[in-house]
Amino acid sequence: MRKKVTVIGAGNVGASTAQLIAHEGLADVLLFDISEGMPQGKALDLSEACPLWNSSASITGTNTYADTSGSAVIAITAGFPRKPGTSRDDLLHANAGVIRDTVSGVSALSPDSILIIVTNPMDVMAQVAWKVSGFAPHKVIGMGGILDSSRFRTFISLETKISPSDIEALVMGGHGDLMVPMPRFTTVKGIPLPDIMSKDKIDRLIERTRHGGAEIVNLLKTGSAYYAPAAATYHMIKAVLLDEKRVFPCAAYLDGQYGVRGTYVGVPVVLGENGVERIIELDLNEDEERDFRKSVSSVQNLLGIIEFN
Ligand code: APR
Repeated sequence: MRKKVTVIGAGNVGASTAQLIAHEGLADVLLFDISEGMPQGKALDLSEACPLWNSSASITGTNTYADTSGSAVIAITAGFPRKPGTSRDDLLHANAGVIRDTVSGVSALSPDSILIIVTNPMDVMAQVAWKVSGFAPHKVIGMGGILDSSRFRTFISLETKISPSDIEALVMGGHGDLMVPMPRFTTVKGIPLPDIMSKDKIDRLIERTRHGGAEIVNLLKTGSAYYAPAAATYHMIKAVLLDEKRVFPCAAYLDGQYGVRGTYVGVPVVLGENGVERIIELDLNEDEERDFRKSVSSVQNLLGIIEFN
């Protein structure tokens, strides 16, 4: 039997995630949204595409939490997106309320599920979701680093004119303006980036990566990115459902790793059926360590604002 994935929030990111799952026939999908009729309409539209995709996934929409019971994975994309001039952090209070509502709506009904948090500011929302759910920390994971790494790969690919498939990148820290792209752990077919690109060029690509989300918000004007966020979320869902043991940078609960305790922040992890199965601890040099700490502090400041520590 196919497993059930619930996507909370059937907006741009949620519906695009559902589309990828349906297209690949990875799981049955339940789309949940507060807006009446909208998740049902999008689910019906996706169902009608499945014959053309040769997919036998079932896609349904709902406004009722009871329908979410028995989900293997729940991706939370509900909340307000950014507009020009809005940072991810500006969404803090409104989206914390949405996370509290939705996570308390779903967690007891799917006690064995893995929660993937997409709503921004994501690291803080992952921490809120973990507290509200009462789940073990390894079962609540934030989506950020995998998207930021994909953006970094894209910009490296554009600069080097080499396929992004041959580029691996790592971005750590919070999913915000102080995220930490890691050139030393970024490679083109195994060759470390600093060996094939000047520091100036790398710094330029790092800046573009840090502001990759804002670049799209400024172009769209009415909302934020969703194709790449959905693709990143899809890969995390797939790694869990198929127990792939993939290594992705994700927001994970640090309990002493990297010298950080009690905070969700982006680090490389092994993702499998149990969620975060391992946190990979890298030996950071002085600069990396300093930038990582700065990024962790900015996440902890936001946590302080919503009094969740
Ligand atoms: N319960 C359920 N759904 C909700 C709730 C709620 N309490 N509050 C809002 N929603 C739904 C909205 O009705 C909307 O359909 O969340 C959806 C959000 O969709 P969009 O506005 O299209 O936003 P999107 O681009 O998908 O981004 C969602 O993901 O990447 C992050 O920063 C982004 O926090 C934002 C989230």
